[in-house]
Amino acid sequence: MIILHVFSVLNLQFSIMAFKGRENFGRVGAVLAAAGSAVGLGNIWRFPIETGRNGGAAFVLVYILCVIILGLPVMISEFLIGRSTQANTAAAYRKLSPDTQWKWVGRLGVLTGFLILSYYSVVAGWTVEYAGYALFNTFAGQHDYKVMFNDFAADPFWPVLWLFVFMFVTHVIIVRGVKSGIERVSKILMPTLFLLIMMLVFCSVTLPGSGAGIDFIIHPDFSKIDGMVVLSAMGQAFFSLSIGMGCLCTYASYFRPDTNITRSAINVASIDTMIAIMSGFIIFPAAASAGYTLTAGDVGPSLIFITLPHVFQQAFSGAPILAYIFAVMFYVLLILAALTSTISMHEVITAYLSEEFEMSRKKAARMVTSACAFLGIFCALSFGLLNGFHPMGKTIFDWFDFLSSTILLPFGGMLISLFAGWHLNKKLMYDELTNYGTIRIRYFKILVFILRFVAPIAIGFIFLNETGLFDIFR
Ligand code: PFF
Repeated sequence: MIILHVFSVLNLQFSIMAFKGRENFGRVGAVLAAAGSAVGLGNIWRFPIETGRNGGAAFVLVYILCVIILGLPVMISEFLIGRSTQANTAAAYRKLSPDTQWKWVGRLGVLTGFLILSYYSVVAGWTVEYAGYALFNTFAGQHDYKVMFNDFAADPFWPVLWLFVFMFVTHVIIVRGVKSGIERVSKILMPTLFLLIMMLVFCSVTLPGSGAGIDFIIHPDFSKIDGMVVLSAMGQAFFSLSIGMGCLCTYASYFRPDTNITRSAINVASIDTMIAIMSGFIIFPAAASAGYTLTAGDVGPSLIFITLPHVFQQAFSGAPILAYIFAVMFYVLLILAALTSTISMHEVITAYLSEEFEMSRKKAARMVTSACAFLGIFCALSFGLLNGFHPMGKTIFDWFDFLSSTILLPFGGMLISLFAGWHLNKKLMYDELTNYGTIRIRYFKILVFILRFVAPIAIGFIFLNETGLFDIFR
């Protein structure tokens, strides 16, 4: 027994020695960086929208189930694939399975990241404009926040400019590197964001007339659950947890060999889910108090930019200076939450280009920044100049969102679970999860079962249902 233990510790030491050359995150830094990737606009902007579109509390429940049953196992798989190979996502699959087509899973992730980064940075750019409004106290004199937002989003210049600014800042941090760029930024921003969200929840739920909004998010109406709700919940879970596109795999390639993968994954998923639900508790009670109907078709990507300015004015109507301070801090922190996510997407593509094509990190980052900024222009203009352009019923922005988040992320998640469940060497998986026998895990069989059957079948069912071929949920 003692000999076995000594052997395990020696194994871990060897892998620590082998690891020394690569930049790496500290233990807390690893969780905060991955949580920084996970917590972003998806929690604060997209989760409430999806909840509104899909009937409220019932969606939240399906969402939590998706996180536990599908999200966590895939996240754990991404972590162990990344950490065991210490390489960018395409190389990771190639290293684990040389001479097979599995490398395409990594490449697909890079493509998905590319698409998401392009439209995500547009919304991130909007947050910069709104931080400006907050700073110059523009909200105070406004009566119609909807008109204010629509006018801004339709403008051909400012949304594009802010997109560029956002891509540029992301670029600068990426070029600084893993430890002094990514880890440092995450360590400061995540705790601050959490505190601020807690304060905002408190303000929102104590607003007069907020009860209907609270009801909407805590009383499930199960008749609302159909295939589309499940598909949206799953898409949202993958999007929000940043899984299915090699982002966590890339970050885990910077984890130290003694990082506890299971614990890190649970921490990241819990932080992410908590912040998403708390955002619901900011938006819905405030919206109810302001008299918005969130179940109807007026729930669009603009919600956060229309409802929240109202929250600040309402919540602190007796103390305008507090409204001012809160608005400024909230939008600045929204920017920073978005930033930790854009950094993580950028890192996936930059690591891929620089390692696969042997170019400097700087040059790779420059290519990623320019290409995404270029594609982002079309997404930004979807709300104005290109508003009438609806190929197959969706704007360009909506296509980017739908293709990447509803289709490619879950598809990537399915491939990752098939890879880890069926193809990956189980001893290697076990060694990674137990840090070579130095920690105990009890869920290995369940994990493999979920990865082999539950996750791929659930995702497959939902896709079939989505195409209408398999209408069993209605
Ligand atoms: N998880 C991020 C959010 O919720 O805003 C978005 C995201 C980041 C998706 C990184 C995918 C990704 F790889």
